[in-house]
Amino acid sequence: MKNIAVLASGRGSNLEAILEAESRAEIAGRVILVISDRADAQALTRADKWNKRSMFLDPGAYSNRVEYDRKLISILKTAEIDLVVLAGYMRLLSPEFVKEYSYKIMNIHPSLLPAFPGTDGAGDALDYGVKISGCTVHFVDEGLDTGPIILQESVPVIQDETLETLKARINAVEHRLYPTAIDLFCRDKLKIEGRICNIVN
Ligand code: GRF
Repeated sequence: MKNIAVLASGRGSNLEAILEAESRAEIAGRVILVISDRADAQALTRADKWNKRSMFLDPGAYSNRVEYDRKLISILKTAEIDLVVLAGYMRLLSPEFVKEYSYKIMNIHPSLLPAFPGTDGAGDALDYGVKISGCTVHFVDEGLDTGPIILQESVPVIQDETLETLKARINAVEHRLYPTAIDLFCRDKLKIEGRICNIVN
């Protein structure tokens, strides 16, 4: 059983999907800890509801990102975390953090990477006029949404699409894709070669 920590800044619908999948034994791991950089993150309430240990780690209490991330690392080490899952976590991770958890940090992004990285992947894709959008689960490296891709799924852009409708349909796919990727990791099915992530039997 792998120990999982989820970092989330906001609504936490992906966290909820992960916890639901765990409760159905669809993930060969367990969420040990949920950490947020926002005191009012709905993700924390969801964690409490599922009786998961949750924690608000206040960025204001640390002089910079490096110090904040060092504290994070020490918490994760103490909890013997094997996998760090970013679920709507809005802070950039320090290079030290990424190195410490090399290929052990996952993120989900609401576009088909490498197209439309950044904070508004779905909105940027819609503004560009793409006909196919989607979402990507990837390992986190030092770049912005650049790490090896684990899983992707497309979501068509329909007539009269709005950002709200597109985001909702992407979200629904994310809720299926993220637990699947996490389970693959937990069962040691992900092998990295260069920037390619292979799924092995
Ligand atoms: C998701 O759309 C994800 O792609 C992006 O942030 C959003 C998080 O949503 N990284 P939620 O907090 O899980 O509801």
